[in-house]
Amino acid sequence: MPRGQEPLLSQHRPSSDRSDDRSMEEEDALLTGQKQEPRKQGWAFWREIGLFAWAVIATALVIILAVLYQHQQQTSSPQPSGGDWKNGRPTGKRNLIFMVSDGMGPTSLSLTRSFRQTVTGLPIDDVLVLDQHLIGSSRTRSSSSLITDSAAGATAFSCGQKSYNGAISVLPNRDPCGTVLEAAKRAGYLTGLVVTTRMTDATPACFAAHVNTRGEEDKIAEQEVGEHPLGRVLDLMLGGGRCHFLPNTTDGSCRDDDVDVVGLAKKKGFNYVSDRKGFDGLNFGTGVKLPLLGLFADTDIPYEVDRRNMDDVYPSLDEMARTALTALHDATEDSDKGFFLMVEGSRIDHAGHGNDPVAQVHEVLAYDKAFSSVLDFLKRDDVEGVLVGTSDHETGGLAAARQLHDAYPEYHWFPSVLANASHSAENLAYQLRDHIAGKHISPLDTGIRTPPRSPDSSDSHSPSSSSDSKELKQYIRNLLSTGLGISDATEKEITRLADTSDPWPASYLFADMISRRAQVGWTTHGHSAVDVNIYASDPGQAKPLRGNHENTEIGQFMAEYLDLDGELKAVTKELKEGADAGAGWMGRGLDDEKVGNRGDHYEGDFKKRGLMDCGCVGGTGVEGHVH
Ligand SMILES: *[C@@H]1O[C@H](CO)[C@@H](O)[C@H](O)[C@H]1NC(C)=O
Ligand SMILES: *[C@@H]1O[C@H](CO)[C@@H](O)[C@H](O)[C@H]1NC(C)=O
Ligand SMILES: [Zn+2]
Repeated sequence: MPRGQEPLLSQHRPSSDRSDDRSMEEEDALLTGQKQEPRKQGWAFWREIGLFAWAVIATALVIILAVLYQHQQQTSSPQPSGGDWKNGRPTGKRNLIFMVSDGMGPTSLSLTRSFRQTVTGLPIDDVLVLDQHLIGSSRTRSSSSLITDSAAGATAFSCGQKSYNGAISVLPNRDPCGTVLEAAKRAGYLTGLVVTTRMTDATPACFAAHVNTRGEEDKIAEQEVGEHPLGRVLDLMLGGGRCHFLPNTTDGSCRDDDVDVVGLAKKKGFNYVSDRKGFDGLNFGTGVKLPLLGLFADTDIPYEVDRRNMDDVYPSLDEMARTALTALHDATEDSDKGFFLMVEGSRIDHAGHGNDPVAQVHEVLAYDKAFSSVLDFLKRDDVEGVLVGTSDHETGGLAAARQLHDAYPEYHWFPSVLANASHSAENLAYQLRDHIAGKHISPLDTGIRTPPRSPDSSDSHSPSSSSDSKELKQYIRNLLSTGLGISDATEKEITRLADTSDPWPASYLFADMISRRAQVGWTTHGHSAVDVNIYASDPGQAKPLRGNHENTEIGQFMAEYLDLDGELKAVTKELKEGADAGAGWMGRGLDDEKVGNRGDHYEGDFKKRGLMDCGCVGGTGVEGHVH
């Protein structure tokens, strides 16, 4: 600004000091109730009186309008087309879709959002669909620990009550608790589960089964098809985990006994599909005949980053979710009750356990896509409905930053490192294992279609022939370059991967290599206690879940939305009678000490067990752990 112009402003500024003083005097007088000296009469005086009166009236109007608005907000939620509403709840026909992003914490969102912006060149205000539907956060502790597992987490959703880690819709006193899905079924709703892990894993199990410990997956499979005190409560299941439904006399079984659960399911009326061809026959739902059991993998459906290369073998989460929505919609067309559907992005959690940021961002994107499809469905459908989504807990203690050296770190992490990777650490570990076992599959010939064992145990090294370690190292270099986009592997890293006696499974080593290069941090191969996000299709419909809540309130909201109080009491009573009648349908008993709250007892573990000397997280890393 030219110097000469500066004074202009001050010259023309009115001398406001006087008027400020005056209004302060007036305010004082109002507050103290003391009479003000009349200073001047005439037009100016009356003008001020008039302005003052106007200000008082305007303020009063604003307050009245605000009170009216708030009252209206409290007594009625937005009423989308079609529904009858009372006390913030619809009273007519309605659907509830509950989505679980297993193991997805707030950092998973930051990581995925930045990853997508970077690799697709989107602007910094580009966000995920999830980001646009955030309404609150959930506290996740269980009755037995500040850090929950998925079983206690899902019991909070299904029963609306806290229980111990490992509990499948069973309370700390080992009484079974009726679930929102069972109560919905009793009330006349149709019900469904869609997952990418085993159908017998903790999250889906908690909606339609009751066992004392989550490991009882054989029992869970039986209950899910209707060997259950309430009979069949599920109309539709789509996911993985076929192995617990097949008798131990069959290839691909992981049952301890020779019970044919698929056979049982068929006897109870289920239609069964078990492969991509069968899935395609469902025609995205219009070809579905309920009840339907669809199991498309022995155990887990591969991570999305790998699955997209095997699209001819496995359906995606989004495809399964859309199929379920259409099938349940069509089947309830002529009913006065809608449906309850649970859709889980199950393997965000597994990517967290594996500390694999590549697998994780693609799992979150796949979940975001399915979330978006559910929103589209609700928008299209003329039946009232709500989508509520949340996580049971965070996994991995993920951090969108990592200090790699002594020097104070620069503020960066590198999504492009993740973008250069085309495979999960789990998949590369399968390939390495098979190569070492002499199958000599060339890198990235993804001939490994079905992971033979769980991701946690399957990828420990098997003995290698020491003769061709040079060939092995070259194979590993190729694998790293083509599978992870890593061309700067150190000799030490290659040697560890080639060393079959390394205490860490190869998948952990691959994941650690990519995490360090991207400067992404992890604090554990297990879960963490951080609050997780709550999402909804419409913040008005899910109003009680706005803000910070206990995870049990999410379960309570679902029961209230569907008005299931009476049914919940009835099914809980019947389940309890079933439990009292014995016959062990809830699986093995459980010691009290396993159920109790272990609380805050530091026992000097640090001194007793020492640390891994690699400076990275994890114990020996290979013991089977609980998701
Ligand atoms: C299969 O299950 C039956 C019990 O149902 C058991 O007797 C048998 O040993 C099992 N076979 C195998 C190979 O595990
Ligand atoms: C990604 O891969 C390309 C091609 O191999 C390479 O030029 C680039 O440096 C890689 N980027 C990162 C971040 O590793
Ligand atoms: Zn987990």
